[in-house]
Amino acid sequence: MSKKTYYITTPIYYPSDKLHIGHSYTTVAADAMARYKRLRGYDVKFLTGTDEHGQKIERIANKKGVTPKAYVDSIVEWIKDLWKIMNISYDKFIRTTDDYHEKTVQKIFKKLYEKGDIYKSSYEGWYCTPCETFFTERQLNDGKCPDCGREVEKVKEESYFFKLSKYQDKLIEYIENHPEFIQPQTRQNEMINNFLKPGLEDLCVSRTSFKWGIPVEFDPGHVVYVWVDALSNYITALGYLSENDEEYKKYWPADVHLVGKEIVRFHTIIWPAILMALGEPLPKQVFGHGWLIIDGGKMSKSKGNVVDPKVLVDRYGSDAIRYFLLREVAFGQDGNFSNEALIQRINSDLANDFGNLLSRTVAMIGKYFNNTLIEEREATEFDEDLKNMAIATVDKVEGYMEKLLFSDALAEIWNLIRRANKYIDETTPWIIAKDESKKAQLANILYNLGEVIRIVSILIYPFMPATPKKVWEQLGIKEGNATTWDSTKVWGTLPKNFTVKKGKVLFPRIDLKVELEKLEEAQKKSQKESVVKTEEKEKDNYISIDDFAKVDLRIGEVIKCEKIEKADKLLKSQIKIGDEVRQIVSGIAKHYTPEEMVGKKVIVVCNLKPVKLRGVLSEGMILAASDENGNLVLASTDKDIESGAKVK
Ligand code: MSP
Repeated sequence: MSKKTYYITTPIYYPSDKLHIGHSYTTVAADAMARYKRLRGYDVKFLTGTDEHGQKIERIANKKGVTPKAYVDSIVEWIKDLWKIMNISYDKFIRTTDDYHEKTVQKIFKKLYEKGDIYKSSYEGWYCTPCETFFTERQLNDGKCPDCGREVEKVKEESYFFKLSKYQDKLIEYIENHPEFIQPQTRQNEMINNFLKPGLEDLCVSRTSFKWGIPVEFDPGHVVYVWVDALSNYITALGYLSENDEEYKKYWPADVHLVGKEIVRFHTIIWPAILMALGEPLPKQVFGHGWLIIDGGKMSKSKGNVVDPKVLVDRYGSDAIRYFLLREVAFGQDGNFSNEALIQRINSDLANDFGNLLSRTVAMIGKYFNNTLIEEREATEFDEDLKNMAIATVDKVEGYMEKLLFSDALAEIWNLIRRANKYIDETTPWIIAKDESKKAQLANILYNLGEVIRIVSILIYPFMPATPKKVWEQLGIKEGNATTWDSTKVWGTLPKNFTVKKGKVLFPRIDLKVELEKLEEAQKKSQKESVVKTEEKEKDNYISIDDFAKVDLRIGEVIKCEKIEKADKLLKSQIKIGDEVRQIVSGIAKHYTPEEMVGKKVIVVCNLKPVKLRGVLSEGMILAASDENGNLVLASTDKDIESGAKVK
């Protein structure tokens, strides 16, 4: 019998900058789910990737003086490296610049056009480039983007339109008949009441004012709107409309698209409408999770509060970060991120609760049984409760995982861990150990602890894939029958006389105060570093001789100089340059007195656009050199030369 399939996706990320911990959140959640389903025997397809086209990327690349492709290439490498260190087990990484994707998007566009669901007209409205989203005048919030609050641009272009309005009633009907389609429920109500019921307008799906996109095959002046390009990734990655569409047949419709709450609208209105127009089935579920916020606001580069996941993984390991992300915030709701909360969770949940349970158990088996447990057993009155709780925990975890309630699943696992620690206090093995006649009871207690740890090590695998192996090594477990998901339901799977091997502390305790300082320092450093270190970028630091020739540098002689009232840094100089006299204001008053200045020959930038500084006209700039210690000296020539002479 063929395996049941499970297709899960993350959004594809804009490679416009380093990804932050908020981005990792979606991917870690998807990874936990993919690993869980694999453990449960599913044939899993886990897709992630990058959304590389659009005006935003084109503008950033232009600013940096590199081609958009060179720019995204370097960031995509950084992203792939991030997923590697976070142990993300994706099956496919799609880039929207991949050839096969571009071809299929062109086919999709053409198919919709031929069907009459895309038509040509002209667009006049507003565009938010960071969000790559169109808005009508009425949708704007105080003239700004209603999603991100930034400036929008007026766009007037000949464009293709997708008949979104045609699908309004069908979408409402579909959503109402499939309550599981949009999750959590609150997002469903929001889509129906705020977007669908007020009415959908046709969607502009092509642009002509920039080039960095997939050209419309039959009208190459147009590039496909980036959201149509991006959403299609979920099916192009499976070979939709290609020669080999086996995977499409096998995995589509997706079991779940995991997305952040701000892009639920694209995934539950635009995407289903496109699929309906193509005559394809809709994904079974779109789950809109909340945001990881910092001090009450969304993380953003402009606010300077982004948290680099690489810094965190580097310091605490990926399992600790994965645990924190999925435990701290209820999936679906917003949750605060703070360094302090992260360290506290590592200390309390990982080091104290779980790490201690393992190290105490291994140490006691070492001390009382010389590492190998005896086979004799004698029960205690506390055993049943522990066993029952272990088995019940597995059931509960399964229930929560089906609903993507990661935090609840982890909370259950940690209840079991705490119950096992309590069992140690109840049974007091260190006292029993003093009585030779109670060896069998002692072995029974330690065996039960070993079993709980084994069960926990399997339950945590989807969330913390690197930890179980370390646990198994200490409990002497080989991967196999005792490490399958089903074995968590069979109490007594560990061999009766298992042998432990003391290993490293799983999660060392962290000194909160000392670490917070170090961590903040590391985060600040990472915020300053730019990702893009392409060859082109380095070349871009050069200017051509023609560029240099544009600067008109000349020797000038200061013939008069005075202070400017109420501006203690500025001096106003009259400078003779050949036959001409110019007034130049310079920020040098802390370093030169007006008297010192008079008679000096200086180098002047003559073709700088005149400006007014503190209301005083300045027609050029005097060159000076300064260092980090605050020293400043005027640039001058080696020997005397006439004023007006050209510096080149
Ligand atoms: N490229 C689009 C998605 C296209 S999918 C067909 C996009 N990219 S993104 O890089 O801006 O965001 C990707 C995902 O990261 C989104 O789901 C977004 O919600 C998520 N997050 C970005 N910041 C986040 C937080 N601070 N917290 C949680 N998730 C966050 O949108």
